[in-house]
Amino acid sequence: MTALLRVTSEDVARVLSCIQPTGSVHLGNYLGALRNWVTGQHDKDVFHGIVDLHALTTTTEPRVVGQATIELAAMLFSIGLDPEVATVFVQSHVPEHSQLGWVMECTVSFGELSRMTQFKDKSAKREAEFVSAGLFTYPALQAADILLYDANEVPVGDDQRQHVEITRDIALRFNHRFGETFVVPEAVTPAAGARVMDLQDPTSKMSKSTETENGCVYLLDDPASIVKKFRRAVTDSDADVRYDPKAKPGVSNLLDILSAATGSAPSALVEHYSQYGPLKQDAADAVIALVEPIQQRYHELMADRGELERLLRVGADRARSVATATLRRTYDAIGLLPC
Ligand code: TRP
Repeated sequence: MTALLRVTSEDVARVLSCIQPTGSVHLGNYLGALRNWVTGQHDKDVFHGIVDLHALTTTTEPRVVGQATIELAAMLFSIGLDPEVATVFVQSHVPEHSQLGWVMECTVSFGELSRMTQFKDKSAKREAEFVSAGLFTYPALQAADILLYDANEVPVGDDQRQHVEITRDIALRFNHRFGETFVVPEAVTPAAGARVMDLQDPTSKMSKSTETENGCVYLLDDPASIVKKFRRAVTDSDADVRYDPKAKPGVSNLLDILSAATGSAPSALVEHYSQYGPLKQDAADAVIALVEPIQQRYHELMADRGELERLLRVGADRARSVATATLRRTYDAIGLLPC
């Protein structure tokens, strides 16, 4: 019955977003983006892929990606993605991604892939380390992720715009060569979430690659660690509580977090504080209240692996029903021999 809630009507945009299973979800991911996935699931026909195959571009150890995948899946359901409404799936469960990925590799040029700034940055950073060919062909697999689902919209941050652009180029080129096959997607700016900064370095975005462990609050942190991290949050030496992100980034970040967690505007919240201590305490308490129910659902789901696997099968089945049709259409357009 709940299946009726799913938005599948022809005139509703299909939206695809994917996330790599690398590392734990932190407050910046949640308040900045993932929370909007949850509210957005009712407005459009949303597909959310956990792209484990993309993570293989930098993986060298057994079982790491699988574990990260199940944890991320549990987290996505725990924050409120409803498997009856949103299609949540694991990329490797839908073999059409790899299959269409090859077609994409043959539709993009070596030169185009060489110009991808993410490849240039990542391969340069890896210096003497192993640089897999997958790191180079990564955008072709990403194009397959997008085109398989006839996605109209792909919400991405600036770092991924180039990958959506190349996907459009690939789709147009393919359609030109072999006839109308793919929906040409558009990169859209995700609904603006809160901009959460590092608690130790409030001029940088909160990120798991932070040098100071205390700067990043994970959704699965226990209450004591959350309190500790907020208590140690960097503020400034004048003791006046004002919302001024430029002059007072630390204090403003605390107000932004408190605002995102409670729904009150920073300008209203600021009235209640004359000292940093109580602001830090309240921000910590609000975050604890926010993550508590998420953590509870997460631990329940992680303890019920069968249920988690069932939910992912539901997503994979739904994803495959779209993906097989697109792959078939692609092979037919090229004129590959049917088997
Ligand atoms: N490359 C994206 C990232 O690193 C992840 C990704 C893979 C993606 N496939 C996608 C994002 C398809 C949007 C659509 O964040």
